[in-house]
Amino acid sequence: MGYRTKCFLTVPYLMVPLCTLLIIASYQQGKKSSCRAHPFDSSATGVFRRAQQIIINNVVDLPCNWSKHTRTIYLCAGMCSTVVREKTKCIFHPRIVHEGFKTLGMYCKPPTDSCLEYNAWLKDSLPLTQQPVRKIPRNLVNNFTLDGLISVDYGVGFVFANYTGRILTWTANFIQKYREQVRAREPFGSYSTDALYPVLDAYKNFAITQKRCAVIGSEYPWIEAALLEYAAASVTTIEYSKILVVKVPGLFAVTPGEFANAQQAGAATNRWDFFDSVWSYSSLEHDGLGRYTDPINPYGDLQTMTKISCMLKPGGFLFLAVPTSLRDEIHFNLHRVYGPVRYPILYRYFHLVQVFAEEIPSTTNYGFQPILVLQNKVGCAN
Ligand SMILES: *[C@@H]1O[C@H](CO)[C@@H](O)[C@H](O)[C@H]1NC(C)=O
Ligand SMILES: *[C@@H]1O[C@H](CO)[C@@H](O)[C@H](O)[C@H]1NC(C)=O
Ligand SMILES: *[C@@H]1O[C@H](CO)[C@@H](O)[C@H](O)[C@H]1NC(C)=O
Repeated sequence: MGYRTKCFLTVPYLMVPLCTLLIIASYQQGKKSSCRAHPFDSSATGVFRRAQQIIINNVVDLPCNWSKHTRTIYLCAGMCSTVVREKTKCIFHPRIVHEGFKTLGMYCKPPTDSCLEYNAWLKDSLPLTQQPVRKIPRNLVNNFTLDGLISVDYGVGFVFANYTGRILTWTANFIQKYREQVRAREPFGSYSTDALYPVLDAYKNFAITQKRCAVIGSEYPWIEAALLEYAAASVTTIEYSKILVVKVPGLFAVTPGEFANAQQAGAATNRWDFFDSVWSYSSLEHDGLGRYTDPINPYGDLQTMTKISCMLKPGGFLFLAVPTSLRDEIHFNLHRVYGPVRYPILYRYFHLVQVFAEEIPSTTNYGFQPILVLQNKVGCAN
């Protein structure tokens, strides 16, 4: 708590005109903002419906072929909280349609949530996984597989990383080494990938330089180093393991629980902070599988996406990479693999601008994690 106060609250507040970006927490009934000009359907369902209906380049999201999926899927991604947000005019980038995504129906408009009233921030108060969980609990199989649409494979592997009480330390020297690697445009860490560089180059003016950035899930600070190297105004890492950042100007770290608390507290005082861009590489596919001591949660990934839509400016950018395949799979407890079923559900609050990938490989390969460029539709008036 003390650490969060020191780090998170020192993130400089963005000096945007307050009325355009104000958020009013509905539980703070007594203190309505005076600049709430245009009333709109503020129910969770209403916000969701509006996000779905935003027209981009004269089209809404391409329809999906759900005739293949006739069963009713139970979803529980919910909302951040019953937040009312002043609608802002957003500039959406023209969609660069990826042929593979088109033919596979990954541009699909997903079914609506069946439990919208669920507050996604509550995911951070679920109990941590303190003991290895080798199988999906019987009562949650339908939730994890979306009623059997996604297959589960227990044969790929099992890992339990007991991160209880783990503390990482990121010193200035440590970060500097990564920054030098970025400057030399070297492949990154365990993924040996240089996939990030073209994305950084293409989107630096919109999403990085002099912008407030967040990184969701981080084992090694290579995205953080890259963002600092591209002159981000600040970089905030949100990660289950506690990270002590020692004397690195502009770099901050919080746990998801601490961040959720700070957001809720901020909402109560109308001092909610937004990021210009959020970055997540190879993290969400683990969320909810218990591999890294995180709570068992069939919708952990979807709820985190919901949260991101409420920590990102309306129209702000999310750069997301998860394992991608022609077929949806869960390799319990290692990770999820996203295909035509779960992908559109994953980014349903977002406008998909671009996919940094060529063809999707015909066999499932965990390492195939194309970077998706998404824009937040929640909070947009147009
Ligand atoms: C949708 O999928 C079904 C079953 O695979 C197929 O018969 C139908 O032609 C598809 N419809 C469209 C519009 O692609
Ligand atoms: C995980 O680590 C914590 C703290 O070190 C310890 O108390 C706990 O027993 C460990 N759990 C397992 C299953 O090893
Ligand atoms: C799992 O799905 C059932 C409905 O099929 C629902 O009642 C239950 O609350 C879900 N569990 C979780 C943890 O969301």
